[in-house]
Amino acid sequence: MVDTEFRGRVALVTGGSRGIGRAICERLATGGARVSINYQQAEDAARATLETVNSFGTDGILAQANVAEPKEVSEMVKKTEQELGPIDLLVTNAGIAKVEPPDQLDYDSFKQMMSVNVDGTYLPLVSVTKGMRARGFGRIVCIASIAALRPRPAQAAYSASKAAVIAFARSLSEDLAPAVRINSIAPGLIETDMIQVMTPSQRDAIAEATPMKRLGRAEEIAELAAFLLSERSSYTTGQCYIASGGRVTLP
Ligand SMILES: NC(=O)c1ccc[n+]([C@@H]2O[C@H](COP(=O)([O-])OP(=O)(O)OC[C@H]3O[C@@H](n4cnc5c(N)ncnc54)[C@H](OP(=O)(O)O)[C@@H]3O)[C@@H](O)[C@H]2O)c1
Repeated sequence: MVDTEFRGRVALVTGGSRGIGRAICERLATGGARVSINYQQAEDAARATLETVNSFGTDGILAQANVAEPKEVSEMVKKTEQELGPIDLLVTNAGIAKVEPPDQLDYDSFKQMMSVNVDGTYLPLVSVTKGMRARGFGRIVCIASIAALRPRPAQAAYSASKAAVIAFARSLSEDLAPAVRINSIAPGLIETDMIQVMTPSQRDAIAEATPMKRLGRAEEIAELAAFLLSERSSYTTGQCYIASGGRVTLP
């Protein structure tokens, strides 16, 4: 379904080549946004996202960059603004996850996870928020995880990195208001490439432990992101929205 909710808006989505990021790019395009699709390595997949974005009758570009590298992030933002216009909507979604049993914790791996998940959130945020404030408009969604909110076996570093993402969104919300709204989303287990490291029986066990009795779909996270980027959530900032089929609930 194509609507006009984001018509005239420019969106930058990190990690838009696959999974949740791709679904968000496509959902924003159905609302008429022009979409800058960031990826790091999977150019063919990013190109497939772009084709779908274009099929909704809107413009898009590919913006290759490692979100953990300051120079590459500023080039990505510059390219987006030169080719599509000032960025109105930012989704920091690119991320990596590693399973690390407690006796296999590794400092290099910890630094890599922090670098992609935390620096990779911070760098796009600082690159776009100055312009958003100057123009008096910006909407931001940061993709975190329920791993930040509950114990998760063998994922201490990942969990810590996602807790930092939630804290960024929460803390920045006061500085950026009222012109810019920023919220985070904490998904539960979502069917994407990222969870293919788990065995089918591990995934089935989590589905069974989930009140909704299934894993989530990338499109379901994209719909929530679209809501938080839209004026349908006009009085909401600094919040973390959990989409986990009921696995994690707040008091
Ligand atoms: N799937 C889940 O169950 C789940 C649950 C909670 C939270 N999340 C979070 O949701 C986000 C998306 O996850 P997903 O499941 O969609 O993962 P995915 O299918 O593995 O896709 C990851 C995306 O991130 C990009 N990426 C990774 N490292 C990057 C870097 N250094 N620079 C730029 N792009 C980079 C990838 O680009 P390339 O294609 O170029 O490699 C790809 O587009 C992540 O932040 C993840 O932690 C996922």
